[in-house]
Amino acid sequence: MTYRICLLPGDGIGPEVITQAEKVLKALGLQFEFEVGDIGFGAYKKHGTPLPESTMESILKSDATLFGAVTTPPDIPGYFSPVVRMRQALDLYANIRPCRSFDHPASRPGIDLVVVRENTEDLYSGVERIEDDGNRAIGEMIITRRASERVSRKAFELARAEGRHKVTIVHKANVLRQTCGLFRRVALEVASDYPGITADEMLVDTCAMELVRAPGQFDVIVTTNLFGDILSDEASMLVGGLGVAYSGNIGVKAAVFEPVHGSAPTLAGKHTANPIATFLSAVMLLQYIGEAAVAGRLRQAVLDCIAQQAVTPDLGGTLTTEQVTDRVLSAFEIVPERK
Ligand SMILES: NC(=O)c1ccc[n+]([C@@H]2O[C@H](COP(=O)([O-])OP(=O)(O)OC[C@H]3O[C@@H](n4cnc5c(N)ncnc54)[C@H](O)[C@@H]3O)[C@@H](O)[C@H]2O)c1
Repeated sequence: MTYRICLLPGDGIGPEVITQAEKVLKALGLQFEFEVGDIGFGAYKKHGTPLPESTMESILKSDATLFGAVTTPPDIPGYFSPVVRMRQALDLYANIRPCRSFDHPASRPGIDLVVVRENTEDLYSGVERIEDDGNRAIGEMIITRRASERVSRKAFELARAEGRHKVTIVHKANVLRQTCGLFRRVALEVASDYPGITADEMLVDTCAMELVRAPGQFDVIVTTNLFGDILSDEASMLVGGLGVAYSGNIGVKAAVFEPVHGSAPTLAGKHTANPIATFLSAVMLLQYIGEAAVAGRLRQAVLDCIAQQAVTPDLGGTLTTEQVTDRVLSAFEIVPERK
């Protein structure tokens, strides 16, 4: 079986980490056909748009997509976020960001949580306007029953599939009574379909505080787009930071896996970008296409490198991006298949 994989390198360190991930994927003993798509500021300079139609077509005809990162250029009229547009246009409705402790001094122990973030609406709907001669800016926070329902169901299904016991519904319904109120109501309705899983709820400000105070209490967090964006970055810092934070954008017609970090322009070309977040995104991709055993071996190889301090400077190591890749590849060769 040959899997079609779309690679979207993007800008800054994006191409560097995607090149490393491609090397790793090619060494796993599976059959892949790769197609590379343009996205980001580089794509804008080449095609006049940061998200060309050809890229969307590549994603749609692939079994899964691995994306690097893009740079947001300074004010260019008409420029839009290709990441937000891609998520909305492909209806990648659930953004899944696992956050587990690593065996490394930069990671706190005892953390194993997943943030499931609604990915298509909220304040990221793109409905913004300027009034009063530029003195008043308005952005609409759009929450629908449909999006709230399906992302909540995704969170409870994930909990069930992974043998997790609790889903925390995070909102700000005490103040945002209509928008967050609807999200909260629908999520609690969905929860009633899963009697074996405890559903609790928490205000977003409390959640931000509790993530720092006692992160071990969380299992699955389900929340709206903006809150999930912020909380998942916060959670990533508990276990080592952006260099190891990975994610999947899951829809019905497509799935795009990506490191949580951005294009880190100051690191580009310096061979110090940590490729581990992209490798772990590739692990999620392998699980998604049904290659759980290979995914498990690759994950273990990455965890072994982290535990042995075979890492880049952001994690206190001395290896280059390419040397980390070599270590993961040699570790992969000796990791046995999991039963
Ligand atoms: N999904 C995306 O493509 C995405 C996400 C966030 C930011 N961005 C864009 O990226 C650009 C830079 O944004 P930023 O600086 O706020 O965020 P960033 O994630 O690029 O960098 C934040 C910090 O983390 C470090 N870092 C990030 N990834 C790393 C890695 N793999 N290895 C080692 N260190 C790493 C950087 O050096 C920097 O100190 C901006 O143009 C922003 O709009 C893109």
